Amino acid sequence: MKIEIKHSLEAQPETTIIPISGESLSEALPSIAAETGIDTHQLFADFKAEPAEVHLLYRSASSRYFLLGLGEKPDFPQVLRAFRSFAFKWRQKLEPAIGISFLHHNSQGWPANWTEAAANGLILGTYTTGKFKTSGDDDHPFRSPDASLTLLTEAAEAAAARTAAERGQMVAETQMAIFDLVNAPSNKKLPTDLGDWALQSGERHGFSVRVLDKQQIERTGLQALLAVNQGSPSPPVFIIMEYRPRNAGDASLPKVGLVGKGVTFDTGGLSIKPSTNMHLMKSDMGGAGAVLGAMEISARLQLPVHLIGIVPATDNSVDALSVKPGDVIGSYSGKTIEVIDTDAEGRLILADGLAYLIQQYQPEILIDLATLTGSTVRTFGYHAAGLFTQNDKLAEALSRIGEHTGERLWRLPLWDVYKEDLKSDVADVRNFSGKPVAGAINAAKFLEVFTFDHKAWVHLDIASVAFGDSEFASQKSATAYGVRLLLEFLSEVQKLDYGS
Ligand code: BES
Ligand code: ZN
Ligand code: ZN
Repeated sequence: MKIEIKHSLEAQPETTIIPISGESLSEALPSIAAETGIDTHQLFADFKAEPAEVHLLYRSASSRYFLLGLGEKPDFPQVLRAFRSFAFKWRQKLEPAIGISFLHHNSQGWPANWTEAAANGLILGTYTTGKFKTSGDDDHPFRSPDASLTLLTEAAEAAAARTAAERGQMVAETQMAIFDLVNAPSNKKLPTDLGDWALQSGERHGFSVRVLDKQQIERTGLQALLAVNQGSPSPPVFIIMEYRPRNAGDASLPKVGLVGKGVTFDTGGLSIKPSTNMHLMKSDMGGAGAVLGAMEISARLQLPVHLIGIVPATDNSVDALSVKPGDVIGSYSGKTIEVIDTDAEGRLILADGLAYLIQQYQPEILIDLATLTGSTVRTFGYHAAGLFTQNDKLAEALSRIGEHTGERLWRLPLWDVYKEDLKSDVADVRNFSGKPVAGAINAAKFLEVFTFDHKAWVHLDIASVAFGDSEFASQKSATAYGVRLLLEFLSEVQKLDYGS
């Protein structure tokens, strides 16, 4: 998609969207009424700038305006949602050339990051989940290379608007690639496919990728990952990615480690899950999706950070060879684990991912993302992820950024009283307390054992937000939760004070 800039409405494409907030209504509507020859009172009666409200006006026989409501006092996620929902509802009628006019917004101006939200939402709205339909309804003309987005803006704002729109476009491309991965059924995304995805992305966007195969995983001693995989016909992979900006030279950059849970399908193993919602467990690699997406977008935007991304990937299968409840397994850290419940598999593979990352790379900040517990779904519904850390500054920064991007986070405790529940009589630690309480906290407490008291470790339990209902699909679908959150976090991490 090409991005063009114009300064006057005379040069607009046939289809132009005019975003209008409640606040800017009184300035915008009279000029639009004058241009289109519509009675001002009529226009005020018909259009209230409610969130995502759309009003279609013909300016001439071949040129139309879509007035797009943003709500009274919009913020970044509201602008994004309005554009995304517009593009989704009108996707069958949109031509490959679309304009957005910022000329009608009120005199207080239009922040550049709203342009990013607008471009991002417009592109995301054309995404469909029908990849495997034979009717081939997956490709939208607006996503073709010939498509164009014209920004109608004041000359002084043109450069910032272009940069913002390009960023919105790039992020949308990566987010849609992650939608595809997380939405893919498990038979179309074996662990090796996640490895191939990482290799391809690294090659295209300039970050290094190593994919350890089963033999290398055995030699490396990632025993917890191997235990989860032992009932599976598909071998595991352990993906190691590293990114540094091209022209970083000797500049000292913060070293950030990311670990994402890559369970390509979670049957529960021998502690098998009920069948009703088991199909949703193809999304149990949502954490891996966030990490893969963050690597890709960091490289594309050349963010000022030294980033290491780890994805342990396997499915969790039922088989005669599967790990059994009560089994004692080893782990990369050297600690032994009693597997009480084979459905608590995510924390096992993360234990190896975290310990490996810390021992091999000594990151200054360490964040893991995982669709780890049903407990977060029961706690938050589908509206927030659980945040766990002993580091108040990181908790504050990530919560603030999540609020801004529309990826809400809510902090839960890591008090040591919860450690009691993970004591095992036969091994160093057990993977489940055996009690149906405090599920998300116990899982986080288990992970903590493998972080060697790292002072800037954050665990995000994204089971409640990675895959959910939305107005953009009739069934639950991928959200790419975490990609934008990490992008914004990594953009500012160099300036962040996270010392506790
Ligand atoms: N992948 C699931 C968690 C999950 C649940 C993700 C719902 C998305 C939606 C995880 O591996 C799991 O099964 N967790 C168990 C742990 C329990 C056995 C200790 C859970 O939360 O019930
Ligand atoms: Zn599970
Ligand atoms: Zn799982």
